[in-house]
Amino acid sequence: MRYVIANWKMQLGVAEAVARATELVRELALPENEQLEVVICPSFAALGAVGEVIKASGLKLGAEDVAVAKSGAFTGDVSARELVELGCEYAIVGHSERRMHHGETDGQVRQKIAMLLAEKIVPIVCVGESREERLANITGSVLKAQVAECLRDVTELAAEKIVIAYEPRWAIGTGLAATVEDASAATVAIREALVELLGEAGADADKFPVLYGGSVDVANAVSFATAEGLSGVLVGTASLDTKSLLQIVGSLM
Ligand code: PGA
Repeated sequence: MRYVIANWKMQLGVAEAVARATELVRELALPENEQLEVVICPSFAALGAVGEVIKASGLKLGAEDVAVAKSGAFTGDVSARELVELGCEYAIVGHSERRMHHGETDGQVRQKIAMLLAEKIVPIVCVGESREERLANITGSVLKAQVAECLRDVTELAAEKIVIAYEPRWAIGTGLAATVEDASAATVAIREALVELLGEAGADADKFPVLYGGSVDVANAVSFATAEGLSGVLVGTASLDTKSLLQIVGSLM
């Protein structure tokens, strides 16, 4: 299975998100049994309306975050249960913008993953090094530590239930993508951490889908999505342009 995750962030209003989704549904003929998951992640406010537009289209709905708890006094948060009600099958967790603007920690990502798995939503777990960490040549160990912390004690650690996205922080929204070689090398570190977490089932680490995200565009999407160790792309900026998103999806069909 290959993946294209479109992360629309807070870039579109509700009406605009609905318009883009409508255009996508009209233009995109996803053949049945296509080994490609195309997941649209609009803001919380647009989830319900976009979900209505894309249901039965073959496109999947994803959230950009989820609460750390099942329910309760969590003003401003949205629970995994509510995401199910809105039709979400995926949710991004640990995105660098959540970590940066909301101080989200690996421990919170771990809680969010548990909430999602309990509702059978596939978490897309983002990990990635900062520019400083990259310059200090510690990318591998940073990624291993993040994967270990985010996924430790996860009871349903299974390849069909969890997607990991390697998103170097310095590459997000900068127009400066990693090299395909660097992205492949990152998947090795990520899988080393998975092997340790999986114990006896260590060989299953190879089956976990690992995606690349960070300045993916029409020109580089295929090389990332088909590179050694990678199963797809998480696209921010380029996913806002319907033509680009359609081209990226089309190039992987
Ligand atoms: P970008 O965003 O494609 O604009 O770099 C990627 C992301 O935020 O996941």
